[in-house]
Amino acid sequence: MNSNPIGIFDSGIGGLTVAHAVTTLLPNENIIYFGDTAHLPYGDKSSSAIQAYSIKICNVLLQQKCKVILIACNSASAAAYELVREYVGSKAKVMNVIDPVIDYLSITYSEKTIGLIGTKQTVNSNIYKKKVDNLAKEITLKSLATPLLAPMIEEGFFNNTISESIIQEYLRNIVLDDIEALILGCTHYPLIKTQIEHYYQGKVNVLDTSEIVAKSVEKYLSENQNLNVMNAHIKHFYVSDYTKSFENSTKIFFGEQIHLEHYPLWE
Ligand code: DGL
Repeated sequence: MNSNPIGIFDSGIGGLTVAHAVTTLLPNENIIYFGDTAHLPYGDKSSSAIQAYSIKICNVLLQQKCKVILIACNSASAAAYELVREYVGSKAKVMNVIDPVIDYLSITYSEKTIGLIGTKQTVNSNIYKKKVDNLAKEITLKSLATPLLAPMIEEGFFNNTISESIIQEYLRNIVLDDIEALILGCTHYPLIKTQIEHYYQGKVNVLDTSEIVAKSVEKYLSENQNLNVMNAHIKHFYVSDYTKSFENSTKIFFGEQIHLEHYPLWE
């Protein structure tokens, strides 16, 4: 049993979809969330910039004695996971949002054709393709960068006609033809899952990766006797740049509005 918190970080508030899935599955766990709102979006940043921000955030999470550091951002998982893991060493278990999905594909989608949508950073890194190819399960991965989707969602454009036409425009790209499942490779995208499912009319399985990731955190904690058996008493949500508008948007990503605490990264 280990009551130290789970640290979760993202470029901003999109990772709250993952934090929500984790707190729903593991309500006893203490949580420290860090949204790097001063530097979002990560999806258009260089790998070296994302690595530098990620290390800074890890220092905050390590100071708070996190037992797990979960990178709840595909872009940071693609650009910084290996470096963060090396940096953190044995001080905490570092997890990302890509490997649990790869494990899931390996079990469920051998010899199938799968689509992936995500930021430019995630798609151009080719990380999903490399990991899928390493499985040697004859899974074909077809990827498309969809950079408009995260800012669109942050502005509250989902479940309306504007978001519908942007989603349609991306999904009808021939790159995504003939897929059997689509990975939502960005932590903002669970909010448009229903619209994407509607577009495919049940012909394509739309994979909400936040649930898959939360299950992998639970599996790790229980296999290593690291679950917290007492009631959770710590829940902090830090942001590197505070605005009222970020705080208001937490409701759409977390299901309820939460209080954000300002924690400047560079002072
Ligand atoms: N949450 C980020 C991800 O999963 C996308 C937002 C951003 O570009 O910062 O890739």
